[in-house]
Amino acid sequence: MRILRKIVSVDRSKCVGCGFCRSVSVCHARGRCIGCLACYHACPYEARVLRFEEVECRPVRLFIDGVEHMAPEGVSVKEALESIGIMFGEPGSRGLTAPCGLGGCWACAVLINGGLERSCITPIRDGMRIELDVEGLEPLRIVHGPQPHRVGGKATPWWEVDGLRYVEAAIWLAGCDLRCPQCQNYHVTYDNSSVPMTPREAAKRLAECRRIYGTSGLAVSGGEPTLNRRWLIELFRSLRRMMPEARLHLDSNGTILTRDYVDELVEAGCNNIGIEPKACKPETYMKITGIRDEELAKRLLESSWSILEYLVSSYSDRVYIGAGFAYNPAWMTLEEVAEIGDRIASIDPDLQVTVLDYFPAFRRRDIRRPTASMMLEVKKVLEERGLKTVIVQTGIGHIGPGDRIVHY
Ligand code: FES
Repeated sequence: MRILRKIVSVDRSKCVGCGFCRSVSVCHARGRCIGCLACYHACPYEARVLRFEEVECRPVRLFIDGVEHMAPEGVSVKEALESIGIMFGEPGSRGLTAPCGLGGCWACAVLINGGLERSCITPIRDGMRIELDVEGLEPLRIVHGPQPHRVGGKATPWWEVDGLRYVEAAIWLAGCDLRCPQCQNYHVTYDNSSVPMTPREAAKRLAECRRIYGTSGLAVSGGEPTLNRRWLIELFRSLRRMMPEARLHLDSNGTILTRDYVDELVEAGCNNIGIEPKACKPETYMKITGIRDEELAKRLLESSWSILEYLVSSYSDRVYIGAGFAYNPAWMTLEEVAEIGDRIASIDPDLQVTVLDYFPAFRRRDIRRPTASMMLEVKKVLEERGLKTVIVQTGIGHIGPGDRIVHY
């Protein structure tokens, strides 16, 4: 059979030999490209080149839920499933989805020859046996941490942060649906090589970390934590069962959260949620997230804002909510900061707003970390729009309401 194949190769003139593709985002096809694009998105130096080639492929046999199918050799299990009409659900929905395509979130996992494995980065092999129903199995996900944290995330209640003690035991989950060129946590986001954990294992480790460091809260961040819904809901259920009194904090970019997903999270015990809409203007959002499709950028940006509105209107009495965005003059003007301030103030002027000062990282090593005085200017602009609880992260510490500085 003839197919149009995606092929990724290394541009030696850009490769600096950092080893990211050997230790973090590794090829699961043993170097025989299946066009999954995980390495293409992950290379910090953009040393991977994508080309399309029409090639003749040998058909191979697959047994899907016991039924024999033919698929072209040299593609991923996900691509093979799609080629025979098995479609993946919308990111964030229940069931089989493939929101990251990087091998980190495990939302695309199916049973392959009897073991749970990610369909997005696993190559098909002749005679492979695939089972699609994995509901009865414990889900998996790559987890970094736990580690104790002194300042927490976007929705960590500001009055708990005093710089003297740890406020949260945190984990970071691999995989993301966005491709932010300045990703501040890219060793987590693009990790497809660490051994995954079940929600129960992650909950036990978080609980132990909390016990050792005496934190009031537990936090889940990423990457984008919401990508694997079943895993995340089971994590919160386990945590709530183990610690009925704890503050359970989720930080999310809000892009794939739907109302029923939020309802399920709250029902599972999550009582502290931070949403990061990132921007007001779609063009700024595209610069920040690396999304090139304008319609998609508009849709994701509006999803984040509308889920923040839903959270505030439905759960302010039960969930401590925060909003966040990252400031850097490389992508945002103070006029847009004011616009963001107006939009948040129209939702709730008391809402906690945390602004992060993004430093050079990943593919944006050219930017400079905003100075403390720049961040104070951002704080002033937001407060002038009527916001009462603004926190800015700076090189000298977190500066919160009343210009209270918490040094790191
Ligand atoms: S979509 Fe396959 S691991 Fe995230």
